Amino acid sequence: MRAVDLINDKRSGRTHRPGEIGWLMGAYLRGDVPDYQISAWLMAVTWRGLNVAETAELTTALVDSGRRLSFRDLQVPVVDKHSTGGVGDKTTLVLVPMLAAAGCVVAKMSGRGLAHSGGTIDKLEAIPGVSTTFDTASFERAVRESGMVIAAQSPEMAPGDGRLYALRDVTGTVESIPLIASSVMSKKIATGARAVVLDVKVGDGAFMATLESARELARAMVDLGRAAGLAVVAVLSGMDAPLGQAVGNLLEVQEAIETVAGRGCKELLELCVVLGSEVMVASNAALTLAEGRTRLEATVANGSALAKLRDLVMSLGGDGAIVDEPSRLEKAPYRFDVLAPRGATVGRIRARAIGEAAMHLGAGRATKADVIDPVVGVVMHRGIGDTVRVGEAFATIHSRHPLGPADVSVQAVLGAITWVDGPVARPPLVLEVVR
Ligand code: URA
Repeated sequence: MRAVDLINDKRSGRTHRPGEIGWLMGAYLRGDVPDYQISAWLMAVTWRGLNVAETAELTTALVDSGRRLSFRDLQVPVVDKHSTGGVGDKTTLVLVPMLAAAGCVVAKMSGRGLAHSGGTIDKLEAIPGVSTTFDTASFERAVRESGMVIAAQSPEMAPGDGRLYALRDVTGTVESIPLIASSVMSKKIATGARAVVLDVKVGDGAFMATLESARELARAMVDLGRAAGLAVVAVLSGMDAPLGQAVGNLLEVQEAIETVAGRGCKELLELCVVLGSEVMVASNAALTLAEGRTRLEATVANGSALAKLRDLVMSLGGDGAIVDEPSRLEKAPYRFDVLAPRGATVGRIRARAIGEAAMHLGAGRATKADVIDPVVGVVMHRGIGDTVRVGEAFATIHSRHPLGPADVSVQAVLGAITWVDGPVARPPLVLEVVR
């Protein structure tokens, strides 16, 4: 077999024969097929798609590129959650400690930022001292001993996905249902959780812009998971505006801490409760969604989720005291307030533009080699439906360099807003659940 033939086949819209995708992935991971050929194949797939059998073969190849863990002997529910990516999406940092405090074991492998969307690993590693590097043995030990792990992709668990993910990020091949479905589910299958909740983001800041495409992605992932013996539920949640106020790595960590402490964004907390109750029911940790909700809300009210977040930061090598004093986290040297051009209501906030502004400031990567700046980003002080007076600061940009009104990021934040007169309803947080 030759990689160029498979690229030509897919570019021409042909279906791969059984075994071809497995061969291509194997050859790539052995170093026999270079990045540029896989990039060309990924582009052909993004354009032409993969059918159900091809997507399943790609997922299996990614899982088989490493080890598949099992925690079937544990007497407690082992769960996982995954987001398909959005702007300001810090749900993992909030939900994992809540689930752990509610009696679940969380075995989670997360990704880095992808295109304009942020990644949990970049956010965690923005905390001084934190390392999310685990090999399979240390991941297994951490799941069994501390009951909660968030790990970066390791060379031992779905390493094939790690390699593809980094290429897709910089080759315009992220927005593909079969590539996202196989990427997400390979990690979920490899890490050994029994029940998974998928947060499928829909809207301007998501990789799925429409409800139909998000439904299709959700269905593909639920089916891939079910075929592998996992209980999977997908929650379709809105991503037309950033989730919460902060976009940028340490800014998001700070907002996540405030939320776990019960002082943060109510919408973010509500989404975490919805996702958490779904996975508690799917894993039999709770009998009903209402029971899940009550137990999760209690973890925030009684401080047990905050204690778990402190444990999590410390288990990753960070200073647990930042959980009690998030204001100690490093700040960007420069801040620039973006002022409302007129008195009006916020009608729309284009999440993607805000994500791109944060990327431009250094919060994301434009090439594989780019290094993330942990302190930069954007904080939105107003959400959809809020009103502002003329000249009022509706957003603050946190920057490494001094900024002026003409700077790209300032113009991007200004351009992301649609101002309207009169009241505007807030968009729904949860659109649908696919079981
Ligand atoms: N999250 C992933 O893990 N993979 C993707 O392809 C997109 C979001």
